[in-house]
Amino acid sequence: MAATGNEKQGAKAYYVSTPIYYVNDAPHLGHAYTTVAGDVLTRWHRQRGEKVWYLTGTDEHGQKIMRTAEANGVSPQQWADKLVTEAWEPLWEHLEIANDDFIRTTQKRHTDRVQEFVQDLYDKGEIYKGGYEGPYCVGCEEYKLPGELLDGEGEYAGQKICAIHKKPVEILSEENYFFKLSAYGDKLLAHYEANPGFIQPESARNEVLNFVRQGLQDLSISRSTFDWGIPIPWDDKHVIYVWVDALLNYATAVGYNENQEKFEATFPADVHLVGKDILRFHAVIWPAMLMAQGLPLPGRIAANGWLMVGGEKMSKSNLTGIKPQDLTSHFGVDAYRWYFLRAIAFGQDGSFSWEDFAARYTSELANDYGNLASRVAAMVGKYFDGALPAATADGGAEKALHDGLAKAVTEADRKIGEELDFQGGILAVFDFVKQVNGYITEQEPWKVAKDDSPEGKARLATILYTAAESLRGLAVLLNPVMPDTSQKLWDSLGAEASLGSLADQKVQEAGDWGRLPAGTTVTKGAVLFPRLEEKPTA
Ligand code: MSP
Repeated sequence: MAATGNEKQGAKAYYVSTPIYYVNDAPHLGHAYTTVAGDVLTRWHRQRGEKVWYLTGTDEHGQKIMRTAEANGVSPQQWADKLVTEAWEPLWEHLEIANDDFIRTTQKRHTDRVQEFVQDLYDKGEIYKGGYEGPYCVGCEEYKLPGELLDGEGEYAGQKICAIHKKPVEILSEENYFFKLSAYGDKLLAHYEANPGFIQPESARNEVLNFVRQGLQDLSISRSTFDWGIPIPWDDKHVIYVWVDALLNYATAVGYNENQEKFEATFPADVHLVGKDILRFHAVIWPAMLMAQGLPLPGRIAANGWLMVGGEKMSKSNLTGIKPQDLTSHFGVDAYRWYFLRAIAFGQDGSFSWEDFAARYTSELANDYGNLASRVAAMVGKYFDGALPAATADGGAEKALHDGLAKAVTEADRKIGEELDFQGGILAVFDFVKQVNGYITEQEPWKVAKDDSPEGKARLATILYTAAESLRGLAVLLNPVMPDTSQKLWDSLGAEASLGSLADQKVQEAGDWGRLPAGTTVTKGAVLFPRLEEKPTA
């Protein structure tokens, strides 16, 4: 495989971001879904040997946070501090998220730079003062167009409600500052045209194209009816609209107007991961803000679908009480990281079900993969005293596995590393797991072991080497998805002594057959995926 340009010293980092999450409540399965996807993507690129920057953080300004803090009787800053330190950061640590930075929009490194950015746009004549009246959804922190609203029912009968939050909108009337977004419609369309991969998936791209083709309105970028935000530098009766503040995190976190060297080595993002609910902010407003400032645009806006509960987007109000930790305590962190990417095609909506998770865990992780690893280690222990024998009798069956591993590497690298098709990439790897299981079933090493002839011994050695070397490839390929389990497997293969640390194994070389040397000490380590306990009762 050709070396990527990113391996060069000093090359720009492969930069991936998650949305910065509102701190109005604790994280739920939906937030964790996007963040785990970004973690797998960045770990994959690190495993290629590339320089990577993975950013996540929290969105702490705006009316929504202010109201939540008020309802809890504390200041918005106290509320944000509590949620970040007690809920958000601990969850990402628990889920083994290897982010390089965590930005909070109340940090000075962010607020100062946001003011400079907005002042700059004002000085360039991109911002003007005007008035606006319209329906506003505090849940979305967005003015809505009348056509986007639904008629309320039940307790909201007679009112207009937001299609996403299903709560009444408020009619706001304010004197605001406006960004000349309407001037960027044609430039945006030209960019989408010239860069067909800019918005992913195709359905998201079409939605944005249709929206922009209808003509863009100027964007209100300040609010004056509350003060929980970053003041407009030239008029401190206004605070900066929370979405303008939030989008700028992608620049301020990597040194915008502060550390030019870091900024150039990182910005713009290669991939902004977003839920489809916040697609327009990222695919329309954010690039227009960058165009207005003459800054480069991101490589790709990748929208993930929604995790659904009972036909609705999973949110704090309809979670039915399931927290990420409830699932990890039952299934383990690695299986949790694997499950959502495995079960749902990235970009599409998907439903979570405990039963589906349990069934896939048992058949794909515990039976297919975990048992394979423990059987191979047990047989090397039993027949060769734990010293990995050499393969001296390769034939057609072995050749098929050499090819199978190479194919799994190429497909997974393309699908996960380039296309963000996590499900397709994981399936390519698990097809290989099936192939190795099939090989062992056909070769019947336990029968070959009864043949004491030199040919029989060579055959048995070859089968077990082939299986162990296959596991070496699997440990590398699954490391971005399930780092703890891969490390256990790596240890059980005794690979560290000869090949070095698992993190240093390049994806590009994972399919080169014969890397694991004969003679390593194979031990039957911890069970990779223990049998599940009974489902806990709520
Ligand atoms: N603060 C804004 C984002 C600003 S980015 C500059 C925001 N925050 S949020 O807390 O509401 O989280 C939004 C993101 O969380 C979604 O875009 C999505 O990535 C993720 N998800 C939240 N609920 C989700 C599901 N039910 N399913 C999948 N992802 C979901 O919007």
